[in-house]
Parts: sequence; structure tokens; C-alpha cells
Amino acid sequence: MIIVGGSSSKDLAKELARILDCQYIQALSTRFPDGECYTRIDSEPFNDDVVIVQNTYPDSNLIEMFLLQNAVKNLGAKSITLVIPYFGYARQDRIFKPGEPESAKVISELLDKSCDRVITIDIHKEDVLRYFSCKTKDLKAAESIADYFKGKGIDIVMSPDIGAAGRAKDVGTRMGVDYDHLEKTRLSGTEVRIQPANADCTGKNVLIVDDIIATGGTIIAATEQLKAAGAKSVTVACTHGVFVNNAIERLTGSSLDGVLCCNTLENTVSHISVANIIAKELRE
Ligand code: R5P
Repeated sequence: MIIVGGSSSKDLAKELARILDCQYIQALSTRFPDGECYTRIDSEPFNDDVVIVQNTYPDSNLIEMFLLQNAVKNLGAKSITLVIPYFGYARQDRIFKPGEPESAKVISELLDKSCDRVITIDIHKEDVLRYFSCKTKDLKAAESIADYFKGKGIDIVMSPDIGAAGRAKDVGTRMGVDYDHLEKTRLSGTEVRIQPANADCTGKNVLIVDDIIATGGTIIAATEQLKAAGAKSVTVACTHGVFVNNAIERLTGSSLDGVLCCNTLENTVSHISVANIIAKELRE
């Protein structure tokens, strides 16, 4: 097996190759003067199965992925597996307003043209994978998050809403600690109360888990409520740290005690590696 790292996921791809003890090739990626993407895989023709590790976000990385698929195919890969740590466009998975495209379908069908298998991590809607005709698997980062925080003094794992309660349960159960979700209760036309659905967080070290942090608004609001409810400390861990509009600075400057994310998107706080769960899947 040969691992080809795209420009979005160099460190993760390298770590994956080290764990699997296989050849790693970093694709050359640059821009033409007009801004178009240029990529090149400096290698002898392949006579092996190839794994490309690259995000489909932002758009420039999506284009690079299409070009890498073609380059790998032309070099004679026996099979092509796409590891897409952060699958961009998964949130526009249906037509919400007339006239909109089914973006997730469009992107999936284009990627599907040149691959034999697709592996994603905590894709926003797992349903999106039905647009692929090849074998697919969405891996859960809960294992990586739980392993990272085990033994670090967390008392309870919390999700910011009931929709993500399953993730908090998964992480909490793996860590052997309590779990709960935040619940929104409308008190009047203008008043909303957000509080843990069942648990008493007084004096506790809380870990909030979510799939994506974009602006950080959801997490900052949840942290304020948990602190108001008496939490001793609040740390957040998400799978995909998209962090738009200086979100890292705003989160670290808020009442949060810690901000971490997985390395599906590589940034200054992506210290939780998902390489082990990907390696396990590739070995199988
Ligand atoms: C929502 O479905 C997601 O799970 C996240 O809670 C949301 O995307 C976070 O967005 P933001 O950081 O902008 O509040």
C-alpha cells in the first residue's frame, strides 16, 4: 500500500504511513500564476494499492483531490482509496429551498468516478455516502477523543444539543465517565434557558464534544451556561475545527478552559489524531 498525502493533510498522511509501515509520497502542490492548481506525484509507476489523503474543503483542496485521483490513476494504481478526513459540502445534502443544488450529491458523484473506496471521519450526514457506488465507511472520532482525554480528570461529557447526544454518550462510555446533553427550554417569547438535561455539573470538569466548530458561537453559548450552572472547568473537543473568522482566538479568549480538535483539519489546536482509527480500517 502507498499513501499519497495531499496538501490539506500532510501530517495525518505521514503519520498514517508510519503506523502502517508503508511508503509515503507527499504530492507536490502549487499554483500557476493565474491561480489554477498544479499537482504532481514524483514517483515510478505504481504497482500497488494507493490511498490518497486529502480534504474536499475548501474548494481549492477539492480541485486538488480531483487532480490527484487522475494522477494516481495514470501512474497505474491497482486500486484507489480516498481518505477524506473532512468532507466539505456534506451539509448541503438536500434541496432546502427551490433552485438549490444537491451539493453533496454533485461532489460525491464526481469523486466516485475515480476511486474504489472512500473513508470519511464523522461526515456531517452519513446519508451522503449513498451517492457513492463504491465501498464507503464513515469512521467515528469518538474513540480518538476518548483516548486523548482518558485519565485527564474529566468528570462528565456533554453535547451542545440532543442531536449530538449519541456522540457524548459514545465518548463518555469509552472514558468510563458520565454523559449528558444540553437542553433548550423556552420560558417565554423572549427567554430561553439552556441547561444540562439531567446532570448536575456543579464543581465538575466538563468536556463538550461536537462534530464541527465553525464560528464557535454554539460552544461559547454552551460554556457560559455550564459555567453559570456551576461547572468547575469546561473544555471543548470537536472532530473538525473549521474555525472561521478567528474562532480559535475568540474561543481561547472566552471562559473556556481548553479548545482541542482532531487533525482532520490541520491547525494550531488539532492535537487529537485520528490516524489510528484510519489505520485500523485500512488494515482490515
Ligand atoms: C451543527 O449541526 C453542528 O454540530 C455544530 O454544532 C455547528 O456547526 C457549530 O457551528 P458554530 O461553531 O458556527 O456555532
